[in-house]
Amino acid sequence: MQSTRQRVRLRTVQRFRWCRAKGSADTPSISLSPVTPPSHGLPLSMLRWWDAFEQSDFARSIPLGNRYRERGFSLAELNDGCLSGKVVLITGATAGIGRETARVVAAAGAITVLGCRNEAKGKAVLEELTASSPGADVSLLPLDLASRASIDAAAAQFKARHTALHVLINNGGIPASASPLRLADGVEECFQVNHMGHFQLTLALLPLIKASSPSRIVHVSSSAHRYAPLHERWLSLSFLNDDSSHSMVERYGMAKLAQLSFSNELHRRLQASGCTQVLSNAVHPGIVATGLVTDNARNNFGPVLGFLIEVVMGLRNKVMAYDVTDGALTQLYAAASHNLTTGGGYYVPIAQPWRIAHPLGDDEAFGKALWTFSEELLARSDDTDSRACANVTAGSQ
Ligand SMILES: NC(=O)c1ccc[n+]([C@@H]2O[C@H](COP(=O)([O-])OP(=O)(O)OC[C@H]3O[C@@H](n4cnc5c(N)ncnc54)[C@H](OP(=O)(O)O)[C@@H]3O)[C@@H](O)[C@H]2O)c1
Repeated sequence: MQSTRQRVRLRTVQRFRWCRAKGSADTPSISLSPVTPPSHGLPLSMLRWWDAFEQSDFARSIPLGNRYRERGFSLAELNDGCLSGKVVLITGATAGIGRETARVVAAAGAITVLGCRNEAKGKAVLEELTASSPGADVSLLPLDLASRASIDAAAAQFKARHTALHVLINNGGIPASASPLRLADGVEECFQVNHMGHFQLTLALLPLIKASSPSRIVHVSSSAHRYAPLHERWLSLSFLNDDSSHSMVERYGMAKLAQLSFSNELHRRLQASGCTQVLSNAVHPGIVATGLVTDNARNNFGPVLGFLIEVVMGLRNKVMAYDVTDGALTQLYAAASHNLTTGGGYYVPIAQPWRIAHPLGDDEAFGKALWTFSEELLARSDDTDSRACANVTAGSQ
């Protein structure tokens, strides 16, 4: 015998399912029993709210049951030998999503090159991968994305060792530090490591990537690109390096938006030059349980804020993040899936095409301006760095 409370609950659930199945916000025509007080029915506004939530960037970033895991891509796709014998370079392969991506591509038979700035960590990962995939062809490439000289040396070393590059995964990254911001090679550190380092590396290796086509370039961006300022003024060294112009969240947003915009502009240029077999795509891996924010929190954000960030982000990693296995899937899709045949896309977990949340992300004029600005930054002398820094210091006084 059902209690009144149970009957009310059952009817509420039925009403919820009915509305969802109908796919409409209309009031259902079933008559509700008089024992159901209206206040116990699930309000339709709540259904709309839930639908909106499910379609949001945030919901896409976290594992919501199996709903998103089931679609897009699974590792079984790599069993057909699509990566066998292909040369794959992954930046930031010593930790988190990059290490997992390297593990999968090495196991799938690719000639796997680990771009890493920390030799000891690189060797440990190399040993781990050769142990888990005996016979795998894995090697290290010293690469510090914070340094133009290191990137030049890495590109030269790569070209001396390999005659092809089929997949470049621009994965390495850091969060932005709190105020005072840090510079790397004269440029705000987060922008340098996430965007500039990969811009320089990609251009240096592009002739080889084109000669190896069909080939792919994967840019690991983030849904945090939406935090970049809406105006274009930040395409200037003095703005980027000026602590008072932006918050640390905006700094990370600018770096990630730049990666996204670079991916799209590169796609347009490849198309225009007839290189239709070189695919440039960007991904947001999701909120993934790695040490991206927590590992260096006290160093980056100071002891108090750092501790709080460790606690909050640690909790976030435990309750609402993808594990690295699932977190690597979207970039593996962009790197290897036969189902992906076009460039210029933006993919979110798991392997779903998605909208860019920032108006500048897909803006052609902005893409061109960012490209020119990035080339100018690469071409500058150290003298220009000191002048820009002097201007910033003078401007902020
Ligand atoms: N985790 C997330 O929730 C999330 C969400 C959106 C986007 N992403 C993006 O996903 C990518 C991978 O992040 P993750 O979560 O796997 O972070 P992670 O665990 O901290 O790994 C970052 C990797 O980048 C490397 N790296 C950092 N600075 C470098 C430099 N100057 N030169 C070369 N390599 C450098 C690190 O090397 P070391 O081992 O030497 O430190 C490490 O291998 C990043 O681009 C990140 O922005 C992550």
